[in-house]
Amino acid sequence: MRLNNKVILITGAATGLSDEIQGIGGAAAWKCAQEGAKVIIGDISDEMGKETANQINEMGGYARYVHLDVTNENKWIETYESIDSIEGKLNVLVNNAGTGIPNYDSSSTGARSPEEALMVEYTTIEGLDSQLKVHAQGVLLGMKHAIPLLRKQKGGSIINVSSIHGIVGTHTVTAYQAAKGAVRQLTKAAAVQYSKENIRVNSVHPGFTKTPLTTELFTNPELHSDRISQIPLGRFADSEEIAMGIVFLASDESSYVTGSELIIDGGVIAQ
Ligand code: NAI
Repeated sequence: MRLNNKVILITGAATGLSDEIQGIGGAAAWKCAQEGAKVIIGDISDEMGKETANQINEMGGYARYVHLDVTNENKWIETYESIDSIEGKLNVLVNNAGTGIPNYDSSSTGARSPEEALMVEYTTIEGLDSQLKVHAQGVLLGMKHAIPLLRKQKGGSIINVSSIHGIVGTHTVTAYQAAKGAVRQLTKAAAVQYSKENIRVNSVHPGFTKTPLTTELFTNPELHSDRISQIPLGRFADSEEIAMGIVFLASDESSYVTGSELIIDGGVIAQ
């Protein structure tokens, strides 16, 4: 039991139904519960989140669902109050909630293709704002209000899910890259600022991973083969493979790891 007695809040963890393709947060919820943690699932997808929590509880784990829109500061405060009164403490926060880029109507922007519509010159303020809100604002708020609870425990671990596209550039998804870059740097700021209080803060950078968010990518043969050819290990990641990195950073096995970037991408950005 690598996470025995730890209380862990994971955002964006509703996609953890046992008979479906799981998201990274959903897979992390299962792995953390199997390692002995009490898991709080925070999401806006209420029905699925409750069902995921039920399934974990039925298998003998501990999970509780809370409605948490990560862009809403009051919801964060309410969530931590409920954790403080029900579970009595917080040891780990996993900021995982995220969204993909909406499929822009390229004709309305003047771009010649959906891919071009995601390049710098067609990126809109609305598009940028929506990505920064979920990823950067969500991560900042989660950390900001977790710190007093972690301080009470004399330390803890914060894990922020960024992306390989928070480290290297790509041809499209400009707003997403800006937001994931912000997640990476917010991580380093918090790691340095709270290291003396034994609060460790790290980012995880998944590569192309099979989740509900990326169904189109890995089921569309055209996109699929193009992406596979970019991956040295020659296949997409399963969400459990990212979740195991989260388990490591949540556990005391990573007690000397802070401010670091855990890249789990099958070698894509090593090239
Ligand atoms: P997913 O769609 O399975 O999970 C995302 C979850 O976030 C969903 O349950 C959704 O309801 C929730 N969510 C969205 N907006 C929210 C909000 N405002 N408040 C609370 N919850 C919200 O997607 P996936 O792929 O598991 O993504 C998880 C994280 O991993 C995201 O941050 C994503 O950007 C990142 N990532 C995913 C990669 C992939 O290839 N799947 C690659 C790199 C990073």
